[in-house]
Amino acid sequence: MAYLETHGVGKRFTLHERGGDQALALSEVSLAIERGTLVAIVGPSGCGKSTLLQIMAGLISASTGEVCLNGRPITAPPFEVVYVFQQYTKSIFPWKTVWQNVAFGLQNRKGLDKTTLAVQCAEYIRLVDLAAFENHFPWQLSGGMQQRVAIARALACQPDVLLMDEPFSSVDAMTRAGLQDLLLRLWQEFSLTVVFVTHDVDEAVYLSQRVIVMSATPGRVVGDIPVPLAYPRDQLVTREAFEYIDLRRQLYQRIFPSERAAQRQVA
Ligand SMILES: Nc1ncnc2c1ncn2[C@@H]1O[C@H](COP(=O)(O)OP(=O)(O)OP(=O)(O)O)[C@@H](O)[C@H]1O
Ligand SMILES: [Mg+2]
Repeated sequence: MAYLETHGVGKRFTLHERGGDQALALSEVSLAIERGTLVAIVGPSGCGKSTLLQIMAGLISASTGEVCLNGRPITAPPFEVVYVFQQYTKSIFPWKTVWQNVAFGLQNRKGLDKTTLAVQCAEYIRLVDLAAFENHFPWQLSGGMQQRVAIARALACQPDVLLMDEPFSSVDAMTRAGLQDLLLRLWQEFSLTVVFVTHDVDEAVYLSQRVIVMSATPGRVVGDIPVPLAYPRDQLVTREAFEYIDLRRQLYQRIFPSERAAQRQVA
């Protein structure tokens, strides 16, 4: 039994309040994710990646099938699981400072006295390199810094599982590389299980041990590709390795086969 499993998960959305038209977003998604692994999910826009992640987080329910964490079906958001949104504005409170945002992640941990809370809060802020900014509000920070606040707050909840929905897609390329390396460091330091949704094939290969490929809507799993590249990974060395380039090519072919065939015909 794997730590996080989806069994034949399907999701049908009703498009009108009074019922009627329905749209099938996901169909028969079965995955087994081992504890402590970092798995990326890629697929075209609208294929149901966010929907699947929200079902794994217990934020919305599946229409068919179920998700199990450590053998137990998920029926509500489990305390072991934290969800990080694409838009950092959704993951942090704009009216709270960096310190207050991270402290919020600690508040639901029972039995923490004030001194321990302060020490731990400072530690999570230091981990994401924001010690000099703990009294700043999110609007006084760059996008990358705000996403680091979201990561610190997520870690403060001491999760086993981090579900990340395109968390780095709204920041520039340089900031993104820094956030990727930060995530890899924290994943190893805290032995997290990470499910990372991204549009970006390069990011999926760079970060993960395994890439799940989903088809266009309704989303199904059409590929499950191991990434046997060594850690620690390096933005220059890893990305120039033959194995990296080859995996990236395989994934592009898997995700965009019809588009590539059409392009060849036109040429
Ligand atoms: N609450 C909802 N009500 C109705 N349809 C929805 C709802 N949420 C998602 N959908 C539909 O489900 C499908 C999958 O959406 P989802 O957001 O999961 O895709 P995605 O793969 O995350 O896309 P993107 O890569 O653009 O973020 C889409 O067709 C979308 O319109
Ligand atoms: Mg999405």
